[in-house]
Amino acid sequence: MKFACRLIALGGLLLIVAACDSSEEMVVPRVNIPFTPEISINEVMVAQIDHAAHFIWDAANPDNPAGAIDWLEVEHHAIQLISSRAAMTMGGSGVNDAMWIAQVSWREYVNLMNDASVLALNSARSQDVESLSRAADRLVESCEACHRQFKPDIPTEGFTHPH
Ligand code: HEC
Repeated sequence: MKFACRLIALGGLLLIVAACDSSEEMVVPRVNIPFTPEISINEVMVAQIDHAAHFIWDAANPDNPAGAIDWLEVEHHAIQLISSRAAMTMGGSGVNDAMWIAQVSWREYVNLMNDASVLALNSARSQDVESLSRAADRLVESCEACHRQFKPDIPTEGFTHPH
């Protein structure tokens, strides 16, 4: 048994060596650096996600006069939404954060929000109004879907907008 394991280990090593040899580029492995988050998912929601999403919804508003869309700002806000995926996946200091991020459906909603945000980013880069409108619709659907399942009526962390 032990011998077989060693053989498998050796085989694996040889494979790795072979893979390294055959490739010219150096592959740098991704390293997850553990850290203690200073903020909660609730705070990321209010201070980052909500702000960024509202900018995109306003920009996609069909009442906007033609040419009024600030595409560079749409791009920046789409990037803010995309970057929030890390906080939504790693969790934060909120009491429920670790429990939320461990759930499969949570991650699916995070991915839905990310897909909509990537569509918004691409729409901004190609200055495509129709595609931005689709991104805005998909974005609101992702917020609502996750809130239906995970957001209590009163925020657990109590951090909300003043209005
Ligand atoms: C993956 C799940 C998930 C997604 C996606 C999500 N939210 Fe949230 N959101 C939550 C949870 C859970 C809370 C409650 C957090 C707490 O109170 O600790 C929350 C809270 C909030 C709050 C603060 C509470 C309040 O009522 O004012 C706002 C604002 C908010 N979300 C906006 C958004 C917007 C806008 C989107 C979409 C662009 C979005 N959220 C997408 C899970 C999600």
